[in-house]
Amino acid sequence: MADGAGRAEPFGVWATAVGVARVRARETAREQPLFRDPLASAFATAGGIGPGLQSPRADEADEAARRRRLGVVVSIVIRTKFLDDLLDRAVTSGVRQVVLLGAGMDSRAFRMDWPAGTRLFEVDTAEPLDFKAAVLRQEQAVPRCERITVPVDLRDDWPGALAAAGHVPARPTVWIAEGLLIYLPEDAVQLLLERVGALSAAGSRMGLTLGARGVVERFRGDAAPGSAASMWISEMPEDPVGWLDGLGWEAETFTLRERAEAYGRPLRIPPQHDEGPGGLVSAVRAAH
Ligand SMILES: C[S@@+](CC[C@H](N)C(=O)[O-])C[C@H]1O[C@@H](n2cnc3c(N)ncnc32)[C@H](O)[C@@H]1O
Repeated sequence: MADGAGRAEPFGVWATAVGVARVRARETAREQPLFRDPLASAFATAGGIGPGLQSPRADEADEAARRRRLGVVVSIVIRTKFLDDLLDRAVTSGVRQVVLLGAGMDSRAFRMDWPAGTRLFEVDTAEPLDFKAAVLRQEQAVPRCERITVPVDLRDDWPGALAAAGHVPARPTVWIAEGLLIYLPEDAVQLLLERVGALSAAGSRMGLTLGARGVVERFRGDAAPGSAASMWISEMPEDPVGWLDGLGWEAETFTLRERAEAYGRPLRIPPQHDEGPGGLVSAVRAAH
């Protein structure tokens, strides 16, 4: 399907990337945003869900459903800031290769400051990358680093595609998997991270977001067909730090609640259930 401008219309899992852009556009419009993403509004508008439009579920009567939706919005804002900071630390430590796995409408190549020599790879399937390219052309957006798109399915031979695109595994890389792993089955998550580990030189770093334990079941009940939550399938293991240790990473996890507080945006809703280990992960490649 294509719209009047010849762009593919958001469909299936990649439509979630446009929903994320909408949240970032709204955050950008706040008086004191945690980040500014000037391209987000153009992505959302091109996808038919401009930030000025009423939220599709704004009329929901069920208070619990409304809270869950707001929870998703807050989690996107907080994780964006968390990973922006992680990337800043990575480049400060000297890393010059960035790989965004499931990049979607992530516009960090355009909105963050990158040292000279930074190469940023955006890995996603062809459709969202084509849609993104059309919007970037329309906005005459100019990247602030060397930006390389890698159209490939992360269940296929993406390491081959990344190597062909110029990624150098012997040099440290900072990897970001933001809002991605929750859409992949557990065995695919495991394989993805094993492959990431095999391509991570000493000094590499990684930022992940993991679905909280129980989140799939909590959201499935009233998830509208085609909505992001209807496609969630995997959650973090019981012991995420131990799991990542086994994969060669020294990881720290943070809860949304704790990060939100640290960023001056304390959550107003008290915990409704045992929130368990945090799903915001910052990891450094363990010394061999
Ligand atoms: C919720 S969006 C998040 C996008 C981006 N990381 C962000 O936070 O703005 C999930 C992204 O993962 C991508 N994705 C999901 N499964 C994928 C797969 N098997 N291969 C490549 N990309 C995938 C989707 O196309 C979509 O762009």
